[in-house]
Amino acid sequence: MIWTMQKASYRAFHKALKLTAVVLPFPVPALLTGPGSVKTLAANIKARGIDNVLVVTDKVLMGLNLLDSMLKSLAENNIKYTIFDAVQPNPTIENVEAGRKVYKQKKCQALIGFGGGSPIDCAKAIGARIRNPYLSVRMMKGLFRVIIPIPPLFCVPTTAGTGSEATITAVITDAQSHEKFAINDIKLIPKIAVLDPELMVGLPKHITSTTGMDALTHAVEAFIGINGTKFTDENALAATKLIFENLEKAYKDGSDLGVRTNMAVASYYAGAAFTRAAVGYVHAIAHNMGGLYGVPHGLANAIILPYVLEFCRKEAQGKLAKLAIAGGIGKPGESEEALSIKFIDKVKAMNKAMDIPTTIKELKRSDIPLIAKRVMKESHPLYPVPRIMDRQECEELVKKLLP
Ligand SMILES: NC(=O)c1ccc[n+]([C@@H]2O[C@H](COP(=O)([O-])OP(=O)(O)OC[C@H]3O[C@@H](n4cnc5c(N)ncnc54)[C@H](O)[C@@H]3O)[C@@H](O)[C@H]2O)c1
Ligand SMILES: [Fe+2]
Repeated sequence: MIWTMQKASYRAFHKALKLTAVVLPFPVPALLTGPGSVKTLAANIKARGIDNVLVVTDKVLMGLNLLDSMLKSLAENNIKYTIFDAVQPNPTIENVEAGRKVYKQKKCQALIGFGGGSPIDCAKAIGARIRNPYLSVRMMKGLFRVIIPIPPLFCVPTTAGTGSEATITAVITDAQSHEKFAINDIKLIPKIAVLDPELMVGLPKHITSTTGMDALTHAVEAFIGINGTKFTDENALAATKLIFENLEKAYKDGSDLGVRTNMAVASYYAGAAFTRAAVGYVHAIAHNMGGLYGVPHGLANAIILPYVLEFCRKEAQGKLAKLAIAGGIGKPGESEEALSIKFIDKVKAMNKAMDIPTTIKELKRSDIPLIAKRVMKESHPLYPVPRIMDRQECEELVKKLLP
């Protein structure tokens, strides 16, 4: 009885959330797209009267010299820059504080987040801390807790990906409690996003596959949730089609710029969809795998996605059928049940073809109660999932991920 009432209260929250998402003035970043587009970012920054920026990135990308062409064009446009490259995958509160210190020391005016979701999210959180010094990173956890808008932010994603360049979210890890949490605020949306496929041709195969499955998870969770709108549905369907058509190709041959462009666009569409319609249990469980064991976000999502889809297949059947048709693996005449099963089978087949396992090797049985507790806390009432699970059901599902 209490659980039934609780579920009803979650659904009431979802209705309010949908209304908020519909009326909220989501800023849309200006897009610079196509091969070499990263070289045009500096002139666009200069045109905004900015001449001192903090570039937030990681050491791997610095080592690959991936930033060189952008840094050269910043210098050519007389924009002073400081590089902060200490961002770890699954960025921590310490990373954010260290970056904030450099920003202040160098009296920067704006931020460039260059990299995968980790540097971009870290740049967002640095910006939030810079303008809101009385709010700790933890205090900004949740929805709309960033009070003063961040300095101008420009994002250059190098994975496809998190879609962070389109989203209101920064995901940060508390290294002490091993908890991953999200700051969500429309003030975190960047001014400009650069979708340059040339930056993605060198992505290692396993990062191409797992970050691509993260983008697919965004599209799927946004679409099967109950808070989709015409806008988010169109973006999610378009992203799913592009990912089904391009991800395995990108995995096999990463040098094809057309395929890389399609994946970058898909990731952006999926980001635009989920940031308005939210994600679901796949992400809530994946955040725990990242926080507790450092499992890469995309890898965790890829492994967990089929299990969560099986859990809610009946409730989400009609929508999974639409995704199957959009993805080109079924026809409108087929039954929704058959199409939804085909869709889940396709996700499993993609994982298999890209050498993604079916279990999480780091997962410990003794952690499952804590994981389920945290998943419940993150998901309820926030995520407008098609089928609400209780803690017991969550534990049962997580057990299936044991190696
Ligand atoms: N803000 C959001 O809306 C949002 C959405 C989903 C996930 N996330 C978060 O984003 C983070 C994950 O981001 P990610 O999956 O993009 O990975 P990442 O940024 O952690 O990068 C993973 C690895 O790939 C390397 N890499 C990135 N681009 C490369 C390139 N072009 N060539 C070679 N190596 C490259 C990085 O150096 C790093 O070692 C997680 O913390 C996740 O929770 C955020
Ligand atoms: Fe994600």
